[in-house]
Amino acid sequence: MKAMRIHDFGGPENLQQDEVDIPQPGPGEVLLRMRAAGVNPIDWKTCSGGGASGFIEALPFCPGWECAGTVEALGEGVDTLRSGDEVMGFVRFPHPAGCYAEHLVAPADQLCLRPAALDPVTAAGLGLAGLTAWQALFEVGQLKAGQSVLVLAAAGGVGHLAAQLAKWKGAHVIGTASSGNKCFLQSLGCDDVIDYGRQQVENLIHDADLIIDGVGGDTAIRALDCLNPHGLMVTLPSVTAAEVVAAGEARGLRVKGIRARPDAAQLHDLSMLASSGKVMLNVADTLPLSEAAKAHQLSSQGHIRGKLVLTA
Ligand SMILES: NC(=O)c1ccc[n+]([C@@H]2O[C@H](COP(=O)([O-])OP(=O)(O)OC[C@H]3O[C@@H](n4cnc5c(N)ncnc54)[C@H](OP(=O)(O)O)[C@@H]3O)[C@@H](O)[C@H]2O)c1
Repeated sequence: MKAMRIHDFGGPENLQQDEVDIPQPGPGEVLLRMRAAGVNPIDWKTCSGGGASGFIEALPFCPGWECAGTVEALGEGVDTLRSGDEVMGFVRFPHPAGCYAEHLVAPADQLCLRPAALDPVTAAGLGLAGLTAWQALFEVGQLKAGQSVLVLAAAGGVGHLAAQLAKWKGAHVIGTASSGNKCFLQSLGCDDVIDYGRQQVENLIHDADLIIDGVGGDTAIRALDCLNPHGLMVTLPSVTAAEVVAAGEARGLRVKGIRARPDAAQLHDLSMLASSGKVMLNVADTLPLSEAAKAHQLSSQGHIRGKLVLTA
């Protein structure tokens, strides 16, 4: 089978197409024929030696943590799935999962059935960003109807799902994006849209109950001014999480960094919302698996609207 892999850490050009053996499922695992794999910033960050690279035991490394595929074989003890099932998943994170390949072995308990109304590309793009948004809003953020949520980078993979999920929960949603994404954010249900190129969000908002920060660094630190005294910021970019948490603590504000984790029950719930049209995954573009390097180059520019998805 074909797998996109790096043999050395570095830029997108290091991703190469290798011919490798089809893996065999172990106990509790299934073999999938990949139909689509979502692309996330953690993919190129890890390939460049950051991100989740500390969890790679040996190169070569095949990136990708979310997918949609068809079950082809069952490992010992798997009785929740059958051969031929169409499934979707966010798997093994932060350990290597290898979704950028024609076949994948995945833990059965990290997969859920793909609703017929969700095409494989949409299903593949939902997992990592969707569960990050879900866990940030509902587990860590404990969001309640009527609360005010500020989403920094609301046009991004996590942000556009977080904005819609917060709206679905009954929150007042404020999103930041560049001017070209104003209509997009309104279409997601954002009550207020702030063009970060023209306005400083910290000058406009001072009573947010929850901030979902998809930008990090100085932008996140400045946005601490937007929190009400009892509010919470969930900061997503791990590379700046410690400094943002420290800046919040210094001011007596609550800031938490998180690491998203696979959760098939949450993914099932999210897939139901997506298949009923309550939440929409915006697919910015699809590219063939062989063009994974181009996908990494595009993603690393930081302006994807929604998600990029690779098709096998
Ligand atoms: N901790 C975790 O478990 C976890 C999980 C998922 C993601 N993350 C991290 O969270 C961050 C966001 O992830 P993602 O997948 O949503 O990224 P993404 O899809 O690459 O985000 C792209 C979006 O960011 C927006 N953006 C760029 N600069 C901005 C700014 N200064 N203010 C507001 N929006 C801005 C862009 O909108 P415009 O084009 O309008 O500028 C674009 O739509 C990444 O750093 C990612 O690694 C962490």
